[in-house]
Amino acid sequence: MILATGHPVRHFDRIDSTNLEARRLADTGECGPLWLVADEQTLGRGRLGRSWVSEPGNLYATFLFAIAQGPQAASQVSFVAALAVHDTVTKLRPELAPRIKWPNDVLIGGAKFCGVLPEVVGENPTRIAIGCGVNIAHAPEGTPYPVTALGADLAVATVLKELDANLTRRLAQWDEGRGFGATRTDWAARALGLGSAVTATSGARKITGTFEGLAADGALLLEEADGTRIPIHSGEVSFAELERQRRTS
Ligand code: BTN
Repeated sequence: MILATGHPVRHFDRIDSTNLEARRLADTGECGPLWLVADEQTLGRGRLGRSWVSEPGNLYATFLFAIAQGPQAASQVSFVAALAVHDTVTKLRPELAPRIKWPNDVLIGGAKFCGVLPEVVGENPTRIAIGCGVNIAHAPEGTPYPVTALGADLAVATVLKELDANLTRRLAQWDEGRGFGATRTDWAARALGLGSAVTATSGARKITGTFEGLAADGALLLEEADGTRIPIHSGEVSFAELERQRRTS
């Protein structure tokens, strides 16, 4: 199948992980741009070394493409991809009013329905794989955070087509980093908890402060009570606003 943007789709009934397939293809010299889409994954991978439950009915897709910049540019792609998912749901289901949780989770009413896993899968040229898992027909059980799904009446192919169009537009806006200012502004307008209390957890370390925005490399800027700004590059963040919302819903 070829999408309206001209991007080909390689479809798998069942695969270990579309991100792993992207890496294997990159190892053979593949540059894309192309989509790898599976009905089911047996080894779906999530952030922070977690697994991603991948039963049929949801979207499991990876976009593989090359950039002229070095691999350091890839850290900004998280925000580009989260915006594309946000655009997609806003177009297909505007009443759901999604928000983005740093760095790239997309939530509805405080519950996650989409995860994004961008990885550098090749060098010279830099190849990036953006893995997207979108809960459409079902939300997995037993996750360490609340989850939801968009609704089984939405076709997986419809979500993929819309996501492809939006990702293409958002990647053009980003322009390999030259447009990151616009990406950052749009991301911030849709972000959860900006300007409010945030706690970042990385291993045993917990820091609380105010979420002040995004650094140029995509780090979350946390300002402590004494005014010290700490860039958070990885780990989990939780927002007082979100916890309050969860308790009252
Ligand atoms: C997260 O934990 O938030 C990221 C989840 C990313 C899941 C997607 S599904 C398609 C692609 N293949 C994988 O193995 N993971 C990503």
